[in-house]
Amino acid sequence: MKVLVAGAHGKTARRLVRMLIEDGHEVRGLVRKEEQLPNVEADGAEPVLCDLESETVEGGIGAAVEGCDAIVFAAGAGPGSGAARKETMDFGGAAKLVEAAEARGARRYLMLSSMGAGDPEAGSEAMRPYLRAKARADERLRGSGLDYTIVRPGSLTNEEGTGRVEAAEHLGRRGEIPREDVARILATALESPNTSGKTFEALAGDTPIQEALARL
Ligand SMILES: NC(=O)c1ccc[n+]([C@@H]2O[C@H](COP(=O)([O-])OP(=O)(O)OC[C@H]3O[C@@H](n4cnc5c(N)ncnc54)[C@H](OP(=O)(O)O)[C@@H]3O)[C@@H](O)[C@H]2O)c1
Repeated sequence: MKVLVAGAHGKTARRLVRMLIEDGHEVRGLVRKEEQLPNVEADGAEPVLCDLESETVEGGIGAAVEGCDAIVFAAGAGPGSGAARKETMDFGGAAKLVEAAEARGARRYLMLSSMGAGDPEAGSEAMRPYLRAKARADERLRGSGLDYTIVRPGSLTNEEGTGRVEAAEHLGRRGEIPREDVARILATALESPNTSGKTFEALAGDTPIQEALARL
């Protein structure tokens, strides 16, 4: 499969790009900073320069999607950003990429969302703008005609992955999960047709990832 990874220089995305290449996929890695292009290439992907906030669906975003079978949205404004960028990136960038996928016929779309996006008003005041933006991005994707999977992990860590997680529509608890395991969930979901049309939460756990996804 030819897969576009949006935010390819991100901490989860770089792990994902390397896994997808190992799994035999062709990967295009979208980044907004020129100095990140060599790292994306070193990870094995075809690098493409595109800013999801300033570029358009008809222009650079559409061109980045062209020829791809699947898209993984793994970009984000990041914890240091204010409410304005939650709107332009976490919602706007994700929504533009959904629109580009619709326009260019990329049928499969995996969204790296967040635990808490199912009920933003229950989040802390500081988290609410982020969770609302993520919730709206997820809604935009659900309302598209695309073959989607929405993954909502807990707090991401840089710990080594264990390959074992807990995943369900609602886990009823909060917690952490290594980015490496989130990347493996995304790579596995891409090849698990039963995850189509599903939205699920994920935390570190005891079940091998493939089995956890098969149970969804
Ligand atoms: N942190 C958590 O605990 C947590 C929990 C649940 C879900 N999430 C979500 O999981 C995803 C991955 O998180 P992460 O911490 O691995 O990501 P990260 O390291 O913060 O990477 C995000 C990437 O998005 C890129 N980006 C920002 N604005 C962009 C734009 N306008 N156009 C293109 N790319 C842009 C950034 O590039 P630059 O280097 O150019 O800024 C960065 O490489 C995010 O969607 C995040 O919201 C995070």
